[in-house]
Amino acid sequence: METTSPPAAEFRDVMAGVCTPVSVVTTMDGRRPHGTTVSAFTSLSMEPPMILVALDRGSELLALVRAHGRFGLNVLASGQEALATRFARKGADKFDGVPWLDSHGLPRMPGAAGWLACEVHELVEGGDHVVALGLVTAAERLAVPPLTYHSREFGTHVAGAR
Ligand SMILES: Cc1cc2nc3c(=O)[nH]c(=O)nc-3n(C[C@H](O)[C@H](O)[C@H](O)COP(=O)(O)O)c2cc1C
Repeated sequence: METTSPPAAEFRDVMAGVCTPVSVVTTMDGRRPHGTTVSAFTSLSMEPPMILVALDRGSELLALVRAHGRFGLNVLASGQEALATRFARKGADKFDGVPWLDSHGLPRMPGAAGWLACEVHELVEGGDHVVALGLVTAAERLAVPPLTYHSREFGTHVAGAR
C-alpha cells in the first residue's frame, strides 16, 4: 500500500477531472451581501437535511459565515457562467450591480437552479480548508439545466451522452 502523498500536480489533475456543480455561497455582512463561488459542495444527511461546503481558510465569506451563523447556497444554472467567474474573485463589491433577493435573511440569486438556506451546524477543520456543515432550513428548485465545471471549463449535464 502506498503511504506517501502524491505530487500536488497529480492530485490537482485528478480533481480537475471530477465534474462538479457550481454554486455561489452567500451570507450577509451587516446589510451588505457577500458571495463566493464554490465547487466543493455536496449533500450530507437527509434526516436532518444537511449539506457540506469546503471553504479556504483565507476566504472572506468563511469569516462572515462564522460571524453570521447562517449561509445560503445558490446552485448556478447553465448560462450563469459570468456569475461564477465574478464571485470567484476577491472584494466587498462582488454583488454590485448583481440582482439578489432577501430570502430568509440571506442573499438569493434569481434564476439559480437550486436554493438552500442553511444554519451553520459545525465548522470542521480540514487541512487548508474548513468544512461548513449546514442544516437546511429552506430548499427550492428551478427546473433548469445546471452549470457544471470539468477540466477547468464550464459546461452542463447531458443525459445519456456518450
Ligand atoms: C469553479 C470554481 C470553483 C471554486 N470552488 C471553491 C471551493 O469549493 N471552495 C473555496 O474556498 N474556493 C473555491 N473557489 C475559489 C473562490 O471562489 C475564490 O478564492 C474567491 O475569491 C474567494 O472569495 P472570498 O474571499 O470573498 O470568500 C472556486 C473558484 C472557481 C472558479
